Amino acid sequence: MSNPLFARKPLALLLEEMKGENRLRRVLGPVTLTSLGVGAIIGTGIFVLTGVAAHDKAGPALTLSFAAAGLACVFAALCYAEFASMVPVAGSAYTYAYATLGELFAWIIGWDLVLEYAVGSATVAHGWSAHFQDLIKSFGWNFPHAFSTAPFDFDLETGKFLVTGTYFDLPAILITAIITAILVKGIKESASFNAGMVIVKLAIVLFVIVAGIFLVDPKNWQPFAPFGYTGISFFGHTIFGQTGANGAPLGMLAGAAIIFFAYIGFDSVSTHAEEARLPRRDVPIGIIASLIICTVLYIAVSAILTGMVRYDQLDINAPVSNAFAQRGLPWAQRIIDVGAITGITSVLLVMMLSQPRVLLAMARDGMVPESFFGAVHPKFRTPWKSTMLTGLFVGTMATFLPLRVLAELTNIGTLLAFVIVCAAVLIMRKKHPEAERPFRAPWVPFVPIMGIICCLILMFSLPAENWWRLIVWLLIGFSIYFLYSRKHSVLARMRAREAAAATAPAND
Ligand code: ALA
Repeated sequence: MSNPLFARKPLALLLEEMKGENRLRRVLGPVTLTSLGVGAIIGTGIFVLTGVAAHDKAGPALTLSFAAAGLACVFAALCYAEFASMVPVAGSAYTYAYATLGELFAWIIGWDLVLEYAVGSATVAHGWSAHFQDLIKSFGWNFPHAFSTAPFDFDLETGKFLVTGTYFDLPAILITAIITAILVKGIKESASFNAGMVIVKLAIVLFVIVAGIFLVDPKNWQPFAPFGYTGISFFGHTIFGQTGANGAPLGMLAGAAIIFFAYIGFDSVSTHAEEARLPRRDVPIGIIASLIICTVLYIAVSAILTGMVRYDQLDINAPVSNAFAQRGLPWAQRIIDVGAITGITSVLLVMMLSQPRVLLAMARDGMVPESFFGAVHPKFRTPWKSTMLTGLFVGTMATFLPLRVLAELTNIGTLLAFVIVCAAVLIMRKKHPEAERPFRAPWVPFVPIMGIICCLILMFSLPAENWWRLIVWLLIGFSIYFLYSRKHSVLARMRAREAAAATAPAND
């Protein structure tokens, strides 16, 4: 008898579920899907984390960091695209893992996606708060320090937490509460609303490139890679590159591991597969096109930013807008702050919308209690209970934990999800070579293997404590799986019914 831990949800069953009455309307074409991808991608990563990454990890070689992280994402995106075309249903990586690697891996990835979506949302809320405060400061108003950020931060020099003298991050908790209320009430995920936000974001990014190009001083690009071109460690022991005072790796790859956050979101296109008009063609187009557009823009912005201001003078909280203030253009700073706030709001909306959807998919499979996570509000028709729980979790994390810790935890969790998706493509090609694949990732096994290697390198380019945090998170997840999900999953209940039916005649 096969091991129930690796029981797979049959592909046919997934496709059958899609035929039910609850299917979402197929209205999205390739341009809208690409715009949804760009809407989910451009946010805190480019507007905030570029500062820390250039200042502490990579210097002007940040441009190469963006290229390296972008390359890792292209490999993973091709694998996501293959799955999205094969299993065009909502649920994303969680559903793909259930169909290919089995129940335990599906649980791991579902649990891991909490790091991507919920912890990622907390990071994004911090970025929102930083730009909100930068904007009001540009008008000469000071936000009360006691409510400006998390009560402690991680000191890179000593590797210890230090007290910031604040109580909590008030703007972060307020924006989380507002988005939660909007999501409970239900937004028609209106494509035109999203398109509006995307146009604002793209306009701001293009403004940074076009206005910034005249402010570049090539002397700022020297030295180009003050921390070197690598930065890989193994649980605190540096293997390649320089080591920071706290034992964390430094260098271009260490920078890539931080700004990887800027690319998170392209995978959310796959969560719209159910609503795509021609999912087998358009979802791969949406994933790959949005990723390529953002990679090109990011490389250009990082080159200009590090050319405008010396890397060690870049602001940590709002580096892009602050660079224009440093160059004597406060009006440009305000425009960028407003654009960043708009752009970051749209990312927060998508990420906080995605988390309850994954939980809903898991609840339908019996992995988490359906009465709570599958509950749909009688009037608003939204998964209101899990949306409120998500809001509570995100608000608490955003208000009390420092941005850097949240961003790194999000990155390691998302990178693990990408590794699993790449591995799943390899396994699926071997086990089910005959399955229909409207989009085939090219050069298999090269592409998925490179995806796995590149994502693992980035995981090892993060400070070691992130591995410990990830391991603790997964251990908590395993406990929940073995105590609850294993017994309550729909497949487990089906097996129990079949076993009962098989033994019934013998008992007569
Ligand atoms: N990529 C998204 C951002 O940078 C998560 O905000």
